[in-house]
Amino acid sequence: MSGLRLLALPLVAGAAILTLAAQPVTGAAPPNGAVIYNRCAACHTATGKGIPATYPPLGADFRKLASKPGGRRYLVLVVTRGISGPLTVEGKPYRNVMPAQAGLDDAAVAAVLNHVGTRIATQGPAFKPFTSAEVGTARASGASMTGNDVARLHTAVGGG
Ligand code: HEC
Repeated sequence: MSGLRLLALPLVAGAAILTLAAQPVTGAAPPNGAVIYNRCAACHTATGKGIPATYPPLGADFRKLASKPGGRRYLVLVVTRGISGPLTVEGKPYRNVMPAQAGLDDAAVAAVLNHVGTRIATQGPAFKPFTSAEVGTARASGASMTGNDVARLHTAVGGG
């Protein structure tokens, strides 16, 4: 009877799905901040020195901002929402646009900010690493902000 065969097919398919589901989750390596930083380097340069009047440096201002709760939220929002000035960084004016960095989940944003805070911006107050959870909270808190809103935060949170 073909009824048996009809029953057997979903069983085989079901078993295959169960086998797949039982596989341990491997290959999900933690995001590599240095690799992600390559996209930032296209504008901010490999050393983070930036380009005068065009791309601000990722240096003393970054570390200063990362030492305060409001500044940390700002840094997450710069990456997740983008930023569009006017903006003054280390005494110099910028009036440019950084697009929101698409495709970075919370762990990836934390990884790239931690790479900047430890390898690129090396001067300033002690750097406390970002966690994915902190990034998630900050990202959600500014989910409807524009790049211009983010720029307006800068002075309020102690940037300059
Ligand atoms: C397409 C060019 C571009 C890319 C790519 C880019 N940025 Fe920016 N970034 C800018 C510009 C331009 C500004 C300043 C915007 C302005 O003039 O208002 C800025 C500002 C910033 C600031 C604010 C600095 C401060 O002291 O307040 C931070 C932090 C920052 N970027 C981090 C990053 C990180 C991290 C990445 C990579 C994930 C990145 N940027 C990728 C162009 C870029």
